[in-house]
Amino acid sequence: MKFRAIMGALCAAGLMCGVTAAQAAESLEVLHWWTSGGESKAVGVLKDDMTKQGYTWKDFAVAGGAGAAAMTALKTQVISGNAPSAAQIKGPLIQEWADQGVLVPIDSAATDWKANLPPQIDKIMHAGGHYVAAPFSVHRVNWVWYNKAALDKVGAKVPTTWPEFFAVADKLKAAGIQPVAAGGQPWQDLTLWEDVVLSQGADFYKKALVDLDQKTLTSQQMVGVFDTVRKIETYMDNGRTGRDWNLATAMVINGKAGMQFMGDWAKGEFANANKQPGTDYICAAVPGTAKSYTFNVDSFVFFQQKGQKEATPGQLALAKTIMSPAFQEQFSLYKGSIPVRLGVSMDKFDSCGKQSYADEQTAIKSGGYEPSLAHGMAQPDATAGAITDVVTKFMNSTQDSKSAVEALAKAAKTK
Ligand code: GAL
Repeated sequence: MKFRAIMGALCAAGLMCGVTAAQAAESLEVLHWWTSGGESKAVGVLKDDMTKQGYTWKDFAVAGGAGAAAMTALKTQVISGNAPSAAQIKGPLIQEWADQGVLVPIDSAATDWKANLPPQIDKIMHAGGHYVAAPFSVHRVNWVWYNKAALDKVGAKVPTTWPEFFAVADKLKAAGIQPVAAGGQPWQDLTLWEDVVLSQGADFYKKALVDLDQKTLTSQQMVGVFDTVRKIETYMDNGRTGRDWNLATAMVINGKAGMQFMGDWAKGEFANANKQPGTDYICAAVPGTAKSYTFNVDSFVFFQQKGQKEATPGQLALAKTIMSPAFQEQFSLYKGSIPVRLGVSMDKFDSCGKQSYADEQTAIKSGGYEPSLAHGMAQPDATAGAITDVVTKFMNSTQDSKSAVEALAKAAKTK
């Protein structure tokens, strides 16, 4: 068969329509940490899309939620001159990588992005006046996931305040159900802790974790945050040390545990297990945070290949695909997030997705739309890391809240 005929046959089979031989040869190495059931399904959409466009997808998946292991792998690759084509980097870290002079601009793939992204997020995708990152979706972090049958069994309603929360947790405990499923990894500890900070009000959260205001960090209210976290901890099981987040989600899915504090990537696990919101599980804002929205926006950055300062055709196609409406919809349906691109229809989304979208719009307009510290959106790596150490140390010891607050105030000064 002639080349043209081969391409025609491939096109008819739904593969490689109108690609050039050069494109067909380009291999895209993509580093990410999306390895749970729901996560792999979501990133699989991108892989299929790129393969259809004629590129070879070289998956560089590094297991371990929230990316700690992936970041170590990435540094090793870049230092040894083997930077991947794209890597999952988000928040202020985008700027930190751009400052190293190793990224390529992707402006030509992003001609319609400004009009289609919330300004707060559009800004994060830039470095030095250029687009250097492509955003996937918006995850809301301040959720609790409940097993509906467990709540029904003990006759409990979804709690909206901490006293109500502890009453529900006590009922679950009395019924022999582990009240809170958790994984004792630093980022999971920080996710819970920032939820409790947010429950003090979005202003308190902003002053403490975005502005790093020393008065707020050392306040009596912050001592109370640590006290609440300590109390929630008593409802977790001893086996939580090192447990992956998706295994904790599985405990809620199969009814071993009543609830989990986790961003809505957890919904990807429920969906992957064919569970329905409202029937099998309930998503609800963390007590006291119904009007607030901690956001976590995943993105890919693109690395210089073989010393070239310009993006390759494959990198540009990858960026363009990530922001395309069809991809934005399907990715989030699997991932548990909502599209970051404005104007994508929410019709196919479930009640949790629709609620996330409605709450996001309200929070953007009326205040309370804040970057998640635990998910790399609020502070540079060094500061976030120092705060994480304080919280994890507290949660894995018998340290008192007052001395944790002193350590926190000191950690917040880390540059
Ligand atoms: C977050 C990431 C999410 C999800 C989660 C658990 O940091 O933004 O997309 O993957 O980690 O792995």
